[in-house]
Amino acid sequence: MGDSERLTAGSEERRRPVHGEEAKAFQKSAVDLLIRFHIVDKIAKIYDPKNDAFQEQGRLFFAALDAMLKKEPEAAFRIRHGSLLLNGVRLKFGVGTYPLFKSVLEEFRAREIEALAFLPGLTMEELFLFMSVFAKREKRTERSFDGLVSDLDAAGVIHVLLEKTSSEEIAQALHKNTARMFFLSIIHLKESFARDQKGEGIKINTTRRLMQSIYNHIVENEAFIHGLTNIKNHDEYTLNHSVNVCLLATALGRRLGLSRSELVDLGMAAFFHDLGKTDTPLEILNKPARLSDDEREIMEQHPFKGAEKLACHMEFRRLPLRAIHVALEHHIREDSAGYPRYFKKEDINLFSKIVKVVDFFDAVTTKRVYRARVFTRTEALNMMLEASGTEFNAVILKAFVNMMGVYPVGSLVVLTSGEVALVCDINPDPKLVLRPSVKLITDKDGNKIDGEAVDLAEKDPVSGRYRRSVASAIDPDKYGIEVSDYFLAQAQ
Ligand SMILES: [Fe+2]
Ligand SMILES: [Fe+2]
Repeated sequence: MGDSERLTAGSEERRRPVHGEEAKAFQKSAVDLLIRFHIVDKIAKIYDPKNDAFQEQGRLFFAALDAMLKKEPEAAFRIRHGSLLLNGVRLKFGVGTYPLFKSVLEEFRAREIEALAFLPGLTMEELFLFMSVFAKREKRTERSFDGLVSDLDAAGVIHVLLEKTSSEEIAQALHKNTARMFFLSIIHLKESFARDQKGEGIKINTTRRLMQSIYNHIVENEAFIHGLTNIKNHDEYTLNHSVNVCLLATALGRRLGLSRSELVDLGMAAFFHDLGKTDTPLEILNKPARLSDDEREIMEQHPFKGAEKLACHMEFRRLPLRAIHVALEHHIREDSAGYPRYFKKEDINLFSKIVKVVDFFDAVTTKRVYRARVFTRTEALNMMLEASGTEFNAVILKAFVNMMGVYPVGSLVVLTSGEVALVCDINPDPKLVLRPSVKLITDKDGNKIDGEAVDLAEKDPVSGRYRRSVASAIDPDKYGIEVSDYFLAQAQ
């Protein structure tokens, strides 16, 4: 026990039928085994092995295990990508058995267990001993996994192996939650827009809770959030755009040193910055050509309309006042040009200046029917730097560029090795800004691969030189690559 390296069984998909009677029989005995394990685990939390209920259910569990170990080399449960596998076979749960699956999954997660394997040679006494130690060990203490393993070692349990949750599995669970939050935000905004159209109030408390959750996700998983902002849903442009602006504004506000409560307010303001567009006719919003003067005038009313809606709706009273500023001012430039026209730059709210920067960035990196070309993330930052101090506030823009890095998360780059890679995280060390972490997506001959994650700051220990460097940033569109797919794949 304790040698987690030894446990690799159950991790490989075995060649076995997935349909037919044999597969069905395996599923049935696997779920049955899990039920038996779960019952004994519950009983063992309360009683010791001498108790009658423990003995009775323990015997049934042992019999089921014994039967399995006569046919299989082991009985190894493993969590992978949010599913439960037995000996490499994904278990299927129905309505009746789903709560059991959830409960076991949660227990494994809380105890940092990725795999639990029962090996041939296990006796009933050893199984009872294992169940007793396993159930009684406190699961929410620090180093709970390691503590459990040393308790089992001390008790002499050798035919049951545990494997600790890998950091990959932990990251995946985190990504899954973050992606869920992203899509919930889009659904909530869609519902908010629909309620606004019907003259119903917006559920502001829900929005506020969502912003608090967004803040938590940004603290824990910022690079992945940057990755998610590469999702561009062209049919629901305003919704997707508003959520991206909200995420980027909150992340940028955090870099600028705003407090948690200010960031929640900023998130809400950014979330509703284009609310006025619900009144702009779709023919104008999606016109595939230059707008006429009249159409432009209607388009440029959306800041007023948005501010008006936010100010008038009773339900918006719980919104920060600054949300009204942001709706009204997010198209005003630093030199006071832009629209609406009669503002002086001294009057513009800090939140509006933040939203102005991220709003522009998200807009120009999104393909739209009326836009002649879409900019890569690197090109957009370069273009924005040229307008520092005129279009954008110089300090805020600088913080934004620092946050995004030279090659922002989601950029596609060609490496000096000839491979193409996707930027997954920027290097936190400002001296290594040109060396992000990337995922290889083609080999050097241009064949698409599901490549490894590589830190470009890594050096060859022999030569002392960097193994790979970025040669240039490229346009994902030209290579037919949907960048957001790679981020969503990590959350599945
Ligand atoms: Fe706008
Ligand atoms: Fe916008």
